[in-house]
Amino acid sequence: MSKVSMTVNGRQVSADAEGRTLLSSFLRETLGLTGTHVGCDTSQCGACVVHVDGKAVKSCTMLAMEADGATVTTIEGMANPDGSLGTIQQAFQDHHGLQCGFCTPGMVMSAAALLAENPKPTEAEIRHHLEGNICRCTGYHNIVKAIIAASGQDTGVLAAE
Ligand code: FES
Ligand code: FES
Repeated sequence: MSKVSMTVNGRQVSADAEGRTLLSSFLRETLGLTGTHVGCDTSQCGACVVHVDGKAVKSCTMLAMEADGATVTTIEGMANPDGSLGTIQQAFQDHHGLQCGFCTPGMVMSAAALLAENPKPTEAEIRHHLEGNICRCTGYHNIVKAIIAASGQDTGVLAAE
């Protein structure tokens, strides 16, 4: 066990972790931030995406120790300070970008990373960016629509369903 320290959603945290502890486990089990989902553990599904120092990372592929000293944002950090849904979260709700919701935290975190570097992405760019995020429910169309809306663009630019 070693001490791991990081800033998570603006809060400084410090806890013991084994060398093999994944960042996803550290967030969920040690810090109780269960909004980050684990769908596969093999870097396939993207449900576990968080931001580490501003970059989208599959937290099941990173050791907690590798994030020592980092700034981490999880889905819990995407809400507004008053607890209401953040812009991307609200857009997912408004445009029915989720059904079971299992993939949603990862989708929102991936979308946030995309919009941070490309504030007005095209439909094709969004679809390309989400290639690492699997959704078994929605067929992706409404997820793409939600991200178009979150970027302030007219969802009428989307190809018909
Ligand atoms: Fe990390 Fe599936 S749980 S990619
Ligand atoms: Fe169910 Fe995406 S909403 S997996």
